[in-house]
Amino acid sequence: MIPEQLFTKEDSNDDRIFYASPRLVKHIDENACHVLRNYYDQLLKDGDAVLDLMSSWVSHLPDHKHYSRVSGHGMNQIELQNNTQLTDFHIQNLNTEQQLPYGDEEFDLCTIAVSVQYLTSPVQVFREIYRVLKPNGSCCVSFSNRMFPTKAILAWRMFSGEDHCRLVSWYFEKAGGFREIQSEQLVSENSNFDPLYVVTAKKILV
Ligand SMILES: C[S@@+](CC[C@H](N)C(=O)[O-])C[C@H]1O[C@@H](n2cnc3c(N)ncnc32)[C@H](O)[C@@H]1O
Repeated sequence: MIPEQLFTKEDSNDDRIFYASPRLVKHIDENACHVLRNYYDQLLKDGDAVLDLMSSWVSHLPDHKHYSRVSGHGMNQIELQNNTQLTDFHIQNLNTEQQLPYGDEEFDLCTIAVSVQYLTSPVQVFREIYRVLKPNGSCCVSFSNRMFPTKAILAWRMFSGEDHCRLVSWYFEKAGGFREIQSEQLVSENSNFDPLYVVTAKKILV
């Protein structure tokens, strides 16, 4: 069990305040964006429905694929309006309301890119991801070593690299139902680029 205190943040004000101003910037370098896009490409097939949770003005999805739907879910309207890959979007603070505004089994892939460290109730959110994924659907959580420190949970600030992978794997395990939970380092900490990790899991009905 992880103590509740590790899910608190230095800045405990409502997240709506911090995310009120749009940040139309990339939160990882071009190399990491490219590597992430290629990684998503392997997970996706034409016609897939994608949910980009904790989304902004970029979703990192490969442009050459066709999507039946790309739903963005985030905190800032201007960021989401500027995201040309989205077909629809929804604004919601996942730290005050974890229930997602989608029906059961609507999505083939759910992504959380460079943002999981800001969730204070991650297991509840991951349970919702499980609910909205189709059978055989996947969830891909990616992260680097960059963050807004005052908004990241204490556990994230205490750990790094492989331990972040273990923490996210634990979210999947604790949420229940996910299978094939796998971590991978896609860009090394020792390179001249931003490091990049992914933890993916599948909804496999047995
Ligand atoms: C570092 S940005 C990453 C944005 C985007 N996924 C990307 O790859 O560039 C963090 C994002 O997390 C989202 N976020 C932070 N706290 C959130 C919360 N409490 N509920 C929902 N989304 C949140 C914000 O909308 C913000 O755009």
